[in-house]
Amino acid sequence: MVPICMLTLFLLATQLHWSFTHGSSDQVRKAYIVYLGEAPRLRSNAVVHQHNLLSSVIKDESIARQARIHSYTKSFNAFAANLLPDEVQKLKENKNVVSVFPSRVRKLHTTRSWDYLKMPLSVKRNLKIESNIIVGVLDTGVYMGAPSFNDKGLGPPPSKWKGRCQVVGNFTGCNNKVIGATFYNNDPNSPQRNPSPLDDDGHGSHTSSTIAGATVAGASLYGLGKGTARGGVPSARIAMYKVCWARGCSDIDLLAGLDDAIDDGIDVISISIGGAGNGFFDDPIAIGAFHAMKKGILTACSAGNSGPYVYTVQNAAPWIMTVGASSLDMEFRTPIKLGNGKENAGFSINTFAPNKKLYPITSAAIAASSTISPNVSPWGCNVGLLDRKKVNGKIVVCKEAANETYIKSLGGIGVLISLIEKTDTSFTATMPEAYIDSSFENTTLTYVNSTKAPQAVIYQSKRIPNAAAPFVASFSSRGPNTQTSAILKPDIVAPGIDILAAYSKLVSLTGDPDDNRFDVYNIISGTSMACPHVAAAAAYVKSFHPDWSSSAIKSALMTTATEMKVKDGLAELAYGAGQIDPTSALQPGLIYDSSTLDYIRFLCNEGYTGTILNLFTEDNTTCSSVPKFGGYDSLNYPTLYYQYDDPNSTISAIYYRTVTNVGFRNSIYKATVTAPKNLTVTVVPNKLSFTQLHQKKSFKVTIKAPPQFLQTFQYTHRSASLEWSDGRHRVKSPILISLSAPR
Ligand SMILES: *[C@@H]1O[C@H](CO)[C@@H](O)[C@H](O)[C@H]1NC(C)=O
Ligand SMILES: *[C@@H]1O[C@H](CO)[C@@H](O)[C@H](O)[C@H]1NC(C)=O
Ligand SMILES: *[C@@H]1O[C@H](CO)[C@@H](O)[C@H](O)[C@H]1NC(C)=O
Ligand SMILES: *[C@@H]1O[C@H](CO)[C@@H](O)[C@H](O)[C@H]1NC(C)=O
Ligand SMILES: *[C@@H]1O[C@H](CO)[C@@H](O)[C@H](O)[C@H]1NC(C)=O
Ligand SMILES: *[C@@H]1O[C@H](CO)[C@@H](O)[C@H](O)[C@H]1NC(C)=O
Ligand SMILES: *[C@@H]1O[C@H](CO)[C@@H](O)[C@H](O)[C@H]1NC(C)=O
Repeated sequence: MVPICMLTLFLLATQLHWSFTHGSSDQVRKAYIVYLGEAPRLRSNAVVHQHNLLSSVIKDESIARQARIHSYTKSFNAFAANLLPDEVQKLKENKNVVSVFPSRVRKLHTTRSWDYLKMPLSVKRNLKIESNIIVGVLDTGVYMGAPSFNDKGLGPPPSKWKGRCQVVGNFTGCNNKVIGATFYNNDPNSPQRNPSPLDDDGHGSHTSSTIAGATVAGASLYGLGKGTARGGVPSARIAMYKVCWARGCSDIDLLAGLDDAIDDGIDVISISIGGAGNGFFDDPIAIGAFHAMKKGILTACSAGNSGPYVYTVQNAAPWIMTVGASSLDMEFRTPIKLGNGKENAGFSINTFAPNKKLYPITSAAIAASSTISPNVSPWGCNVGLLDRKKVNGKIVVCKEAANETYIKSLGGIGVLISLIEKTDTSFTATMPEAYIDSSFENTTLTYVNSTKAPQAVIYQSKRIPNAAAPFVASFSSRGPNTQTSAILKPDIVAPGIDILAAYSKLVSLTGDPDDNRFDVYNIISGTSMACPHVAAAAAYVKSFHPDWSSSAIKSALMTTATEMKVKDGLAELAYGAGQIDPTSALQPGLIYDSSTLDYIRFLCNEGYTGTILNLFTEDNTTCSSVPKFGGYDSLNYPTLYYQYDDPNSTISAIYYRTVTNVGFRNSIYKATVTAPKNLTVTVVPNKLSFTQLHQKKSFKVTIKAPPQFLQTFQYTHRSASLEWSDGRHRVKSPILISLSAPR
């Protein structure tokens, strides 16, 4: 009922269509991506090889040439082409091809937030290295007119930077804060006129400034959320890869942006875009993130906004940091007062301050048009249902939904919308508006029904403490993971509700054409807003530990995360390891590291064939040549997850893990397990003694439970935990047991 999707991205079912007007064939060519694995050593060879491959399935040379859309050769080997079904089939059968998948179009899925995460302005920083960190953001572009993108105090771009800045159209150029800005407009189905890296959506400016926006005092949205706006790493540099347009984000462009980003010398990638695909190699984000991981670059992605339902988490490959959205400890609420003095705090971001004490109020039922048929309910306040004379100059009470444009067109001056479901998120409206719960709806309607000239007022929103924090946003996508039942996802949560950050003045605050408010800041919500917090936290950790692998940084953030409150019983399926705590992540004590070989071992365990791996890694690795790994999940992951189908089966699994000492040279870590009754968790050895830094120690975790273990609980999940501690560091891993839900 709440318009969460407005500013957030998810998969559009539409696939790209493009037909040649060539020949008599009535078959339609569609855009596909053909993925060939590891980046070629010689680019020119790769292009010839790609062309030969295409010519082997399209015999007519001129059609083959025309069918080519884009070639990817910098960071991986792939091409995009318009193909017929039988050509797709032939390419899939070719042993040099890893995968062939249709190009889809995806949709896009803050000052207080960094203080809340215990990173005040004065937090210790490694400025020299931080200013050498480049964060790549794949999004809608950047609006350089926002003060967050000023480059005061920053030197020239780090010497490792190889990327570009495309100064075209109305995009005025880069600076020492936004050092790169490129756009990708290769989708033949909907080419953009006058393309440039300029952000005419707001989303890309918001996410990138959350990561590395400059410190700007006195930022607010029309006085709301006033404070100092800044990114998590305000000295780091931004490289914007504009892959999203009004139509969405095409896989063809997304992959092109990643091909460049990985090669440009960036340190961290942030992608707040919906994921797709059931496998790991039919999804450009998973493909790009894998090649990024091999180069030591961590990719953070949004988990999606399809919560609170299970099996909705996206971007769930194990080499991705999958990020859900949590609350801040403050929230925006909109005070409402009725003529009889009764008050309530509704949900909305209302920038409009009233200039009268009280205004007339009515309900949809009372203001219903006399021309609507008696079996139509006017409560939703939709077009045609209300009577102009009864609405003009009044606040209207509507149920579950309201069309503000329509109410405004009738002269309505405000709207109260009652919700059946509880909400935890506020949205910007184009008129004075607030969501109310059913109890205050009753209070309001009782008053309106029984009063001759009822009155009310909706005040400007206020920020108030949120005692329930930290909790997971109801819209945040939940596990289980549909791509592999071996890994818990999401990995972590970060603030994604009511985040104030930079915006674009080329779009109104709500995106609504009849909204005439334009600002360089906006307050928005979504896992899109959570992901850049984690990308920034990763950059922050990297600025102190430049030599850590992407898996090590991920482990540091996960094992030091803050435990969350269990609100809906889904627990770790909603928040993974918990909420990020960036400063604790600087000193994790131990890390769970993974090499490329570990991920390959994982893929073998998941049933990916030797041939595919051979291409994928270009070093002739096959599953038979990879040392076997007996564990349940085969990956050295910082969380432990067990999923099963038959409630009557016995639970029994062994996990092998290896930790690396990054704390004190001489240290002894002891294991502490907490587990519910009937679940036995044993750790062998339960004491690890280190005598050196970077020393590795392995241990084995066995979990056992009798049949019907989960039958005895209300929920189909149950959590336990493992914590290693040397008395100074706490290295925490959740253990989640989950019974597959019938789907
Ligand atoms: C640049 O901005 C002007 C004024 O807003 C607009 O009229 C024009 O179409 C824009 N040009 C391009 C190439 O986007
Ligand atoms: C909302 O109302 C406006 C103006 O009456 C109308 O043009 C628009 O189609 C309505 N939107 C929806 C979703 O019904
Ligand atoms: C509405 O409020 C009245 C008066 O307080 C109460 O008697 C009634 O039960 C309430 N109705 C609902 C549906 O809550
Ligand atoms: C108020 O009156 C409307 C009819 O105009 C009715 O549908 C509704 O149930 C009443 N609500 C209360 C709380 O009295
Ligand atoms: C992989 O195998 C091919 C032929 O089987 C060989 O030419 C090539 O050198 C091998 N590559 C590596 C990295 O071992
Ligand atoms: C589990 O066992 C119970 C009792 O033995 C039986 O009623 C039930 O059908 C079994 N469930 C499944 C999924 O096999
Ligand atoms: C533990 O298992 C025993 C027998 O297997 C069962 O009777 C008991 O209810 C279980 N207790 C809990 C808390 O699940």
